[in-house]
Amino acid sequence: FAFSFSAYAETYVVGTSAGFPPFEYVEDGEIVGFDMDLITEIGKRQGFEVEFRDISFDSLPPALTTGSIDIIAAAMTITEERKELFNFSDPYYSANQSVLVHEDSEVGLPVLFGDNDIGVQTGTTGDLWVQDHLVEPGILTGNVRNYDSFVLVIRDLSNRNIDGVVLDKPVGETYSQGNPVKVVAEIITGEEYGMAVAKGNDELLEKINAGLEEVIADGTMDELIEKYFE
Ligand code: ARG
Repeated sequence: FAFSFSAYAETYVVGTSAGFPPFEYVEDGEIVGFDMDLITEIGKRQGFEVEFRDISFDSLPPALTTGSIDIIAAAMTITEERKELFNFSDPYYSANQSVLVHEDSEVGLPVLFGDNDIGVQTGTTGDLWVQDHLVEPGILTGNVRNYDSFVLVIRDLSNRNIDGVVLDKPVGETYSQGNPVKVVAEIITGEEYGMAVAKGNDELLEKINAGLEEVIADGTMDELIEKYFE
């Protein structure tokens, strides 16, 4: 009788928060991007398939810990706080934060001081940085506006509903192409992105790390970087 082994390949649900180009975004109704290609390539080499689910960034940790997703692939920065909640793969990309303003604005970095309204995505390292370094010391006295998606943050900045935005620099650069916004400063935070799995799921973590190593060694990583960043 006919028997196809590949039909039995495990399928893992990968949670992401699209609206973060070029890492994850929606194109023609599909979730695509650097992270989606990367985890797909890792799966090909380690014998698993993936299916993507788009949820708000701050819902990713509970989705992983309750088991409704198996993997987070969301340009998520490896932090000590998050390591308490789940396990990270080896790092696959380095990034800093950046400050964006409207392209017609002349204010620059001082947008972070005084009575300005700053947009952030809830639960991101940019959100936390603004709280810790600007709000708590009283440097920023305007409103910090929290959003579920950067698509909406960029729309509000383009419409001048907010004065500035703090977000990961590679994504700020991508949004500045094709939107009336510009990057005016870099904040050196030295972040590294990792994929995450639930604590105890060591088998899957090992597959991801082994696959990542292969993808780097065989040149696929360089191809993905060229495809999405150059
Ligand atoms: N790197 C930042 C963090 O970990 C932002 C990630 C946002 N990712 C996303 N897919 N929207 O907090």
